[in-house]
Amino acid sequence: KLPIILDTDPGIDDAVAIAAALFAPTLSLQLITTVAGNVSVDKTTRNALQLVNFWNAGVPVARGAATPLVRPLRDAAYVHGESGMEGYAFIEHDRKMLDQTAADAIYQQLMASPEPITLVAIGPLTNIALLLTQYPDCLPRIQRLVLMGGSAGRGNFTPNAEFNMAIDPEAAARVFASGMEIVMCGLDVTNQAVLTPEFLATLPERNATGKMLHALFSHYRSGSMSTGLRMHDLCAIAYLVKPDLFMLKRCFVAVETHGEYTAGTTVVDLDDRLGKPANASVAIDLDVEGFRQWVAEIMAQMP
Ligand code: BDR
Ligand code: CA
Repeated sequence: KLPIILDTDPGIDDAVAIAAALFAPTLSLQLITTVAGNVSVDKTTRNALQLVNFWNAGVPVARGAATPLVRPLRDAAYVHGESGMEGYAFIEHDRKMLDQTAADAIYQQLMASPEPITLVAIGPLTNIALLLTQYPDCLPRIQRLVLMGGSAGRGNFTPNAEFNMAIDPEAAARVFASGMEIVMCGLDVTNQAVLTPEFLATLPERNATGKMLHALFSHYRSGSMSTGLRMHDLCAIAYLVKPDLFMLKRCFVAVETHGEYTAGTTVVDLDDRLGKPANASVAIDLDVEGFRQWVAEIMAQMP
């Protein structure tokens, strides 16, 4: 099994990605770390613990950064609801988060593991940037970073920037400049990763997880229940399990931090106009039918 650490800001599509990370037979989810993004870090941490409790999973949760590196948080409650996971009444529980920051917990896990670990980041990259700053010696312990974020084309938060990059451009810039192996699943593929209304309608009959996700989906604004919903974050997990569904291009990627209108834009040099060494593999196309088939398969693994 591939050992992974998942950094997340649940978030409705994050919830689906967490489910897939827990139940994909080829993955071993070792740690969940939370970050401020879709909603505050207190809420994303509460949401992560509620999900872990829902599946009665043993995976530890550590809380990360409450704000981006230098900017104030602008959240996406308009997409995910005030709580970040609006629509389902999770039961009370007494699970606790780890008594460690996200960066400390990731570092400890990386150093204790007999093999390098794959990091998966599906929120703003604040925790990953802090990890690199605080623990530069961990770099060789990271197998690679697979992230949901960015775009080679248009944005979904500002005209040119995708949400995760736009919320913490300085963190994203630091991560892309770090030299670590990066796979970027941006809007170029995640906007295609749409679950159809017909499929969504079948969720409640599938299992308890399907019922819960269906309830969340009725509040999720990345698309609509009647035209289909975009599973942005799930693409990062899909890539780990079914890499053949994705077409990748190795190239240079920089993150704009100074632009008046463009902060957080990923400058994806697909045609090598800048002549800089490649630092990322960028997903540029998705086998949509294959993706949908995999989602149905992975749903069947869930309780
Ligand atoms: C990203 O923004 C968030 O709202 C989603 O959870 C996803 O990580 C999509 O741009
Ligand atoms: Ca997310």
